Amino acid sequence: MATNKVFTSKDSDIAWIERSFDKKDYSQSEKMFPIEIARTARAFHRQIPGYKTSPLVSLTNLSQMLGVDSIWVKDEAQRLELNSFKVMGGSFAMFRLIQQKLGMKDDEITYDYLLSKECKKKLGDMTFASATDGNHGRGLAWATNKLGFKCMIYVHSATSQPRIDAIAKFGATVKVIKGNYDDAVRQCNEDAKKNGWQVVSDTSWPGYTEIPTWIMQGYNTILLEAQEQFASQGITKPTHVFVQAGVGALAASVIGFYSALFKENSPKFVVVEPSNAACLYETALANDDKCHTVTGDLDTIMAGLACGEPSPIAWEILKRQADVFVKVPDYVAARGMRILATPLHDDPLVISGESGAVTLGCLYAMLSNASDKNAQKHIDELKDHLGIDNKSQILFINTERNTDPIRFRQIIWDGMDPVPERFWTER
Ligand SMILES: Cc1ncc(COP(=O)(O)O)c(C=O)c1O
Repeated sequence: MATNKVFTSKDSDIAWIERSFDKKDYSQSEKMFPIEIARTARAFHRQIPGYKTSPLVSLTNLSQMLGVDSIWVKDEAQRLELNSFKVMGGSFAMFRLIQQKLGMKDDEITYDYLLSKECKKKLGDMTFASATDGNHGRGLAWATNKLGFKCMIYVHSATSQPRIDAIAKFGATVKVIKGNYDDAVRQCNEDAKKNGWQVVSDTSWPGYTEIPTWIMQGYNTILLEAQEQFASQGITKPTHVFVQAGVGALAASVIGFYSALFKENSPKFVVVEPSNAACLYETALANDDKCHTVTGDLDTIMAGLACGEPSPIAWEILKRQADVFVKVPDYVAARGMRILATPLHDDPLVISGESGAVTLGCLYAMLSNASDKNAQKHIDELKDHLGIDNKSQILFINTERNTDPIRFRQIIWDGMDPVPERFWTER
């Protein structure tokens, strides 16, 4: 078990937990994320028409301004034209599920076979179902639509209309549930049991782990690509990886992948959550080997991260490997979006939604030299703990494009969620 040091301050609304380990245990990462499975996922994704390696862009001018060696953004904004990384998980889980049902081996089943009449005939009529914050539902609706199956997607009442429309566009039935994301998960499961639907959920719970594992393994394609892209730049691996979390499946996939590959030479891992939905932070804080829930309306602009219950299988990775859990207020994400949307000099433009940009916003808070010196001193301690300096090569994942275009404009154009004046930059 890790030992925690908790950092809160009356001068700052960013809090974090530093975790130290006598010795990290890599066995779970090696079991869940062996490189062979990442290669299988990649080989499957490659067969999907329209598949392209997503860009890994370098924000050179920003890194110079902030005094680090390099800032890399793996940009999932246009993944398979679905505006988010999520489809990589749902599609691979569908592949595995169908493969299992038909008893086929990896090299016997192709994407074309999944589309074939023979495959459809063998499987019969099936309905796939899941709850979503938006992006997983869109990915699953897209995959089921391609394969000719029915799809039921459950969203909670605060889900914005553009996110609902983007799911319905692929022929899925969208059910709006009172409550939050976790209520939508429960309702979806109950209805699926009654109706004989196949649940393809990105979060896990006791007794339901196989499909969410496949989903996390599917995300590994993103990291395999990134490692190839780093290699082409002569970089073995980043020194630090910042990853945003809702239920923690993406974070576990990223951190598990690097941990299985590099073990004690792994990058430092920072998990970032919204202050109002920081279930992994709370779970780390309790440090009692149980998952802890955050309840209420989980009010945050980071819709993809508005989850109150960790995925237990993701926690199995994070508890062993994550170095820091940070929780940040919404303006941190909004500032991250604005930084990416107004690049310095010839840095590339990155269109990033609220959940996509929070990690860069978090780094910026650490390095921005805020006018409130006490607040800056507080966050400086995190920078020092992580050893962020002019040699650091830092990886971020832009997990979504402007998946809610109206909200995106409200933030970028209208200045919604402004940075409080005392955190304005003096640089
Ligand atoms: C854009 C975006 N980023 C990050 C995440 C976090 O993923 P996870 O719930 O696996 O932690 C989500 C989840 O829906 C998302 O939509």
